[in-house]
Amino acid sequence: MKINLQADPGTPVKLSKYLQGQFSEHLGRGIYGGLWVGKDSDIPNVNGLRSDVIDALKRLHVPVLRWPGGCFADEYHWRDGIGDPAKRRKIVNNNWGGTTEDNSFGTHEFFELCRQLGTEAYINCNVGSGTVQEMADWVEYMTASGESTMAELRAQNGHPEPWAVKFLGIGNETWGGGGNMRPEYYADVYRQFQTFVRQYGQHPIYKIACGPNIDDFNWTNVLMANAGPYMDGLSLHHYALTDLWEHKGDAIDFTDDEWRSLLNSAKKMDYLIHEHSVRMNRYDPEHRVDLIVDEWGSWFKEQAGTNPAFLYQQNTLRDAMVAATTLNIFNKHAERVHMANIAQMVNVLQSMVLTDDDKMLLTPTYFVFLMYRFHQGAQRLAAYNSQGSDVSYTISEKDGEDILSFCNTSLTANDSVEINFPADLGDVTYAQILHEEQANAHNTFEDPDRVQLKSFDQVQVQGRTVYCQLPNMSVVTVKIQKK
Ligand code: AHR
Repeated sequence: MKINLQADPGTPVKLSKYLQGQFSEHLGRGIYGGLWVGKDSDIPNVNGLRSDVIDALKRLHVPVLRWPGGCFADEYHWRDGIGDPAKRRKIVNNNWGGTTEDNSFGTHEFFELCRQLGTEAYINCNVGSGTVQEMADWVEYMTASGESTMAELRAQNGHPEPWAVKFLGIGNETWGGGGNMRPEYYADVYRQFQTFVRQYGQHPIYKIACGPNIDDFNWTNVLMANAGPYMDGLSLHHYALTDLWEHKGDAIDFTDDEWRSLLNSAKKMDYLIHEHSVRMNRYDPEHRVDLIVDEWGSWFKEQAGTNPAFLYQQNTLRDAMVAATTLNIFNKHAERVHMANIAQMVNVLQSMVLTDDDKMLLTPTYFVFLMYRFHQGAQRLAAYNSQGSDVSYTISEKDGEDILSFCNTSLTANDSVEINFPADLGDVTYAQILHEEQANAHNTFEDPDRVQLKSFDQVQVQGRTVYCQLPNMSVVTVKIQKK
């Protein structure tokens, strides 16, 4: 593959750091056990948040975290999760296995999590079973300062200073579990709810309307036509599957065909973003409204022996390919896509980290995010993905360095890449590779370091040209100083 960056690169685009966002829902062990162990736990923690997981996630520079759902958001009543933990209301988590949700992780604990991670908050409000007043009060509780009953209540609960809410989602999957609404109806509901998202802090809250399920283009048309001027972002959900939804594949035990079908399903993201953007362009030619892919990732059968409602799955080299390919797709569409949130950060679906009591492991997906973090906020020079090609890539520049990331999804074929830059280059400052001989290589609690990043030596710089040898099934990131 030959890449020529000498030609006019066109309109420069900054890669929003939010493209590498995360999502954590009250689902299975995503929060409880995975992040939150409580202050009295034997597992080392700071203010109830387990230190091993926080330390690992901090290395990813998580830019934004979506919470509390997902489906859970539409049954979440925020007042249940404030005040004395011993007195908090216990509810049934109807979406995820009927477990008891004791609300010990609530608004204050979430913002403590954001503080420890150094991440921004994306709050998803309850539209399905909540009221406009409940949402308006929550926004006031979180962001108002000065004299206000909500601000005073927050202070009584231990946090006098307001928090910053960067993003606010108004409903989740309102076409399904979030209310089974028709788009015409939801467009009006959205317009009503967003009216009462008041600005108390210095910056207006970025408002996100619930967007389509996969390829429901009619939903996008109707929302943009009827509510476009009232939103900052429209969401999109798409999960990668090996087969039909009813026949999900196994996370570890898969055939070569299932390797390919999962990656083809992930690559459908490219088509979906393109097609939804075409609809959005009709109503918003100036690109005022962003596309927000706030749920994506691979979804397999739950792991044998685990609660099926907990969506716990292992994570192999194949998932790393899904992650890198999808991040390349987001970078390719960075003019329209402003934020994306992989589902989900810990112990649920395509996670960064898996835990088992006091044990923790990093997944192959974690290592992709670790390498790709350099692209956060960088200037895009090129980003490529095509249904017909095994190799996808992102090339960007930041802080006097060029950053090159490649993903080769071929099961068998190596690829050589030649990249021609407009000017001579300096030294390679970083070169790492994620590659294993086995397609289903993964980390276990018995062998947590089986899959790791290794140093990559198949890169050569000659003047203004870079040569890379990409093994099959690999993700590579290289940084090179500009001269
Ligand atoms: O991420 C798991 C679930 O998938 C979310 O709760 C829901 O929004 C989606 O259907």
